[in-house]
Amino acid sequence: MSKDKIVVLTGAGMSAESGISTFRDSGGLWEKYDIMDVATLEAWERNMDMVNEFYNQRRKQLHEVEPNEGHYALARLEEKYDVCIITQNVDDLHERAGSSRVLHLHGELKKVRSSVDENLVYELDGWELKKGDTCEKGSQLRPHIVWFGEPVPMIPKAAEISSTADIYLIIGTSLNVYPAAGLVNYVSPGTPIYLIDPGEVPATHIPGVKIIKETAGKGTPKLVDELLEKAK
Ligand code: OAD
Repeated sequence: MSKDKIVVLTGAGMSAESGISTFRDSGGLWEKYDIMDVATLEAWERNMDMVNEFYNQRRKQLHEVEPNEGHYALARLEEKYDVCIITQNVDDLHERAGSSRVLHLHGELKKVRSSVDENLVYELDGWELKKGDTCEKGSQLRPHIVWFGEPVPMIPKAAEISSTADIYLIIGTSLNVYPAAGLVNYVSPGTPIYLIDPGEVPATHIPGVKIIKETAGKGTPKLVDELLEKAK
């Protein structure tokens, strides 16, 4: 018998207990930085050094943090389910915890790409990207991040994956940012949907959603144990 498919949509709260700041919580990154200064193409064109510095700091921090119990629990789900993680996070903590199918909607911190050809994507050696670092075509490298106002190329694939879920989990996202927040609309009617988040997430538009008001590190292992118990 084939395994049931679990699709998991994760956001910044997934990595909060690893020590990575969320964006919109009190003390979050968007309280310290203006999105328009660090997370748009215009910002990068206007002040490349400042934008690079913002992502260099995030990249440097990534070398200092570890996956948490929530990430490890999701990797354990693969023992009995076909699991696909769709993450808005640009860290690599799902992969480091052992999850094998991770789709990054908003890019990846450890990667950089050509500013003239988005298909030229490279792993960055170390953590620092600088003005003057160029791709094989000689153009400036930029962070491999989907900035505000840019298209999200992975959305059609993520929507297709969401539509095939037998169980859907949403963990640690304020569901503020579209199109990611709209992926749940592709889930087939009647599919069990669980949402793990210690905060108040607007979820009235998600039919039948079961809300687990806990952190990712605490709520995810418990739910994963229940789902592994129930697996066919
Ligand atoms: P947000 O910062 O908007 O939301 C974080 C969510 O995590 C909130 O709902 C918190 O309640 C929750 N949270 C906080 N601590 C938690 C914990 N320990 N366990 C579980 N949940 C916790 O982050 P995202 O929804 O991921 O995009 O934001 C979406 C996008 O906006 C990001 O990918 C980023 C940002 O701007 C780009 O930079 C393109």
